[in-house]
Amino acid sequence: MLIDGHGRAVNYLRISLTERCNFRCQYCMPEKPFSWVPKENLLSFEELFLFVKVGIDEGITKIRLTGGEPLLRENLDGFVKMIHDYKPDIDLALTTNAFLLESVAQRLKDAGLKRLNISLDTLKPDVAHKIAGKDVLSHVLKGIDKALEVGLGVKINMVPLKGINDNDIIDVMEYCMERNIKVRFIEYMENRHAVESLRGMHGREILEKVKEKYTIHALGREGASPSFNYYIEENGYEFGLIDPHKHDFCESCNRIRLTAEGMLIPCLYFDEALSIAKAVKAGDIEGASQVLAQVLKDKPKENRWSEEDFKQEDISSRAFYETGG
Ligand code: GTP
Ligand code: 5AD
Ligand code: SF4
Repeated sequence: MLIDGHGRAVNYLRISLTERCNFRCQYCMPEKPFSWVPKENLLSFEELFLFVKVGIDEGITKIRLTGGEPLLRENLDGFVKMIHDYKPDIDLALTTNAFLLESVAQRLKDAGLKRLNISLDTLKPDVAHKIAGKDVLSHVLKGIDKALEVGLGVKINMVPLKGINDNDIIDVMEYCMERNIKVRFIEYMENRHAVESLRGMHGREILEKVKEKYTIHALGREGASPSFNYYIEENGYEFGLIDPHKHDFCESCNRIRLTAEGMLIPCLYFDEALSIAKAVKAGDIEGASQVLAQVLKDKPKENRWSEEDFKQEDISSRAFYETGG
């Protein structure tokens, strides 16, 4: 078992496979970054897999592939299969914008992928265009249909933004209800890469919108997940709220993050990180394991949004598209 410096068990590895993305979501990457990481700096699937094996051998039981947009990496199903074949019972999931999903969903399922978390911020084509920077909605919806058809688990992530998609909360929730899939509403997390004028809805305001039509009851947090769950009295439907501005989920935080270049990051909000690139390129299992141990030792206790003198500049300037959200 992997235990961090504050006594928390860490069993969840999020791997960002590329910082690149085919969307430009206003809350994440409105412009092309000033420079992309050169392709030659990306770790290959073989190099990433060496670290994955170290992690699994030492206690990782849940792996999520993220980005940027992970479906932009060629032969992704091959990487999924490598992980699946090494430990078939691992909770193996992917976070995607679903634009390219329709044609690869079956292959990912066959390779051993279990679940997908998909961003869906609206059901209105023009609003989706406004948020993502291009006309994306029909492709995304086809991707979701296909994922359900091939039997992949699906959850939906929606980030409600004031004046943009704040009136689409019930729509997206009912779309998910009809398909018996869970939606999680995510408070917008301020960051230096987003459109400056954006204002996210507070968790309380999101719940108020739902309450305009439904009676809701709190269920509680789902294990170490950042999502707090609710259910709807009228039909028993369950949905989640991810409210990072509270930091109460930090005390049960079970995750570390790996970037496409091999930086191992103990917390989304802090700059601290150590590279596994040298070790995995040399096939050095012991070296990779030592970096992992150091990162766990250094993992911060909690994010800083609750500190009195907290300023936006205190958040790591590393983009979420690089860290994998
Ligand atoms: P499940 O395995 O389905 O619970 O997925 P997940 O919620 O871990 O993954 P997903 O990639 O769908 O992330 C959902 C949202 O939660 C994203 O906005 C993430 O940035 C955010 N999130 C994930 N982990 C953390 C975390 O450690 N801290 C904070 N503040 N947000 C997180
Ligand atoms: N605030 C909140 N959620 C975000 N995501 C990306 N950037 C932000 C942000 N600034 C969400 C996406 C995706 C998930 C991994 O993170 O909607 O579903
Ligand atoms: Fe791409 Fe996801 Fe960022 Fe949107 S939120 S730009 S889909 S990485």
